[in-house]
Amino acid sequence: MKKFLITIILLTFQNVFSQSNTTEIEVLKSDKTTEINKNIYGHFAEHLGRCIYDGIYVGDKSPIANTNGVRNDIIKALQELKVPNLRWPGGCFADTYHWKDGIGAKNERPSIVNRWWGGTTENNSFGTHEFLDLCEILGTEPYLAGNVGSGTPRELDEWVQYVNYKPGSPMADLRVKNGRKSPWNVSIWGVGNEMWGCGGNMTAEYYVNLYKQYATFMPSGDSKLFRIASGANGDDYHWTEVLMRDIPKSLIEGVAMHWYTVIDWAKKGHSTNFDESVYFESMKQALRMEELVTKHSEIMDKYDPEKKVALIVDEWGGWYEPDDTAKWGVLYQQNTIRDAMIAGVTLNIFNNHADRVRGANLAQVVNVLQSVILTDKEKMLLTPTYYVMKMYNVHQGAQLIPLKIESPKYVLDNNELPAVSVSASKDKNNLVHISLVNIDSQKQNKVKINVQQLGLKNISGQILTSPKITDYNSFENSDKIKPAVFKSFTIKNNQLEITLPPHSVVVLEGK
Ligand code: AHR
Repeated sequence: MKKFLITIILLTFQNVFSQSNTTEIEVLKSDKTTEINKNIYGHFAEHLGRCIYDGIYVGDKSPIANTNGVRNDIIKALQELKVPNLRWPGGCFADTYHWKDGIGAKNERPSIVNRWWGGTTENNSFGTHEFLDLCEILGTEPYLAGNVGSGTPRELDEWVQYVNYKPGSPMADLRVKNGRKSPWNVSIWGVGNEMWGCGGNMTAEYYVNLYKQYATFMPSGDSKLFRIASGANGDDYHWTEVLMRDIPKSLIEGVAMHWYTVIDWAKKGHSTNFDESVYFESMKQALRMEELVTKHSEIMDKYDPEKKVALIVDEWGGWYEPDDTAKWGVLYQQNTIRDAMIAGVTLNIFNNHADRVRGANLAQVVNVLQSVILTDKEKMLLTPTYYVMKMYNVHQGAQLIPLKIESPKYVLDNNELPAVSVSASKDKNNLVHISLVNIDSQKQNKVKINVQQLGLKNISGQILTSPKITDYNSFENSDKIKPAVFKSFTIKNNQLEITLPPHSVVVLEGK
């Protein structure tokens, strides 16, 4: 009897893990080249919870090792991540932020109430200089989000002058007085945030006029500005239609769009304690990015067939119920293998739409929502999402290799989703990278690709996975999940056959 039971268990186990489909990936011919804009890999830091204070910025009196108040361990981790741009100061906070509150002597800076995020007192000790100096240390491009909701065109105009003008004009001279001689030359500017919601509850028709007014008075100085209009909430296609129809192309460089992976806004579920049906729903919501990007792009194509205006998904990521706000701060959540899957499939979607999607910002960088870094006093950990972003950074600035895949299905309770997602690129050193995600939490999947078509030789790979979809890096076991060498592939008759374990992200490199 005992022997019989063991045989049944072994057979079931084998069945679950050996059941797999093999699917072929086709390399599509294309007569145009598309660069994957590195800004797709951007991040976002808002004055929210413990993102800035007690996260990135601990102040220069802190016993935690820091540079001008910014944690050294965070600086190192973000430098290694190759963050192309960082959006700041919000989010909803941006439309309450008056930049002049955050310059000059710290003890003279006024405080404000952070009305959107817990009513905490914001003492403005982390302001324009602190943020832009941090971006310089990180080698990242700043993306400043301007205040339209409670600001004025003059305030935004003067902020641009303050950071971009050469000495010899009033705002630039004020900057010099505050200790910074040369301008930072900030190019990327948001003109309001979520104007349909926390930015002022406006209609698209109302905002479009405000946008034109603000954009007209943003001075370019020596820097060419990249102005981003506050965009649609997910599938609000009317919003994009109005913006693209009514804003002259001379006044706009980018249109934003926000999409969060949320299973239900009224009941978002726990960050680490969830079952497979919740996981499946999260995957479904994450994969909706494909439909959203496609449909917003179609509208943009109608008004801008030359694709001059970029689609910037400047907020995306998984959003769950916060983990004990009193202990961890507003919108803090842990980060599991589920989040690694969200990151992997979303970045593949952005790569594959690189002709129109030329910027994106994961929300948010430290201690808020789908963070790449979490901190607890002096401790810091890198999340599974950090490692996916790092594995994928090889695509930054590379040429997209268009692929077609008939994905095997991930089936749960008679519902199905495409299980495998993929994107590929060739970098300036002719290195080819393929990133593959198998979201199926039960089954491995095999994919085949012709190596001659891709020009792939000397292949090596990395994988990120863990036995359970709920696994995460904790402060007690911060190295539980990290990339490992991946060797589950063979080459026969020019066919590269890759075996993707359940819920895994793989990046292959070859020349
Ligand atoms: O990222 C958190 C919040 O989500 C941002 O402040 C806002 O823009 C969005 O609603």
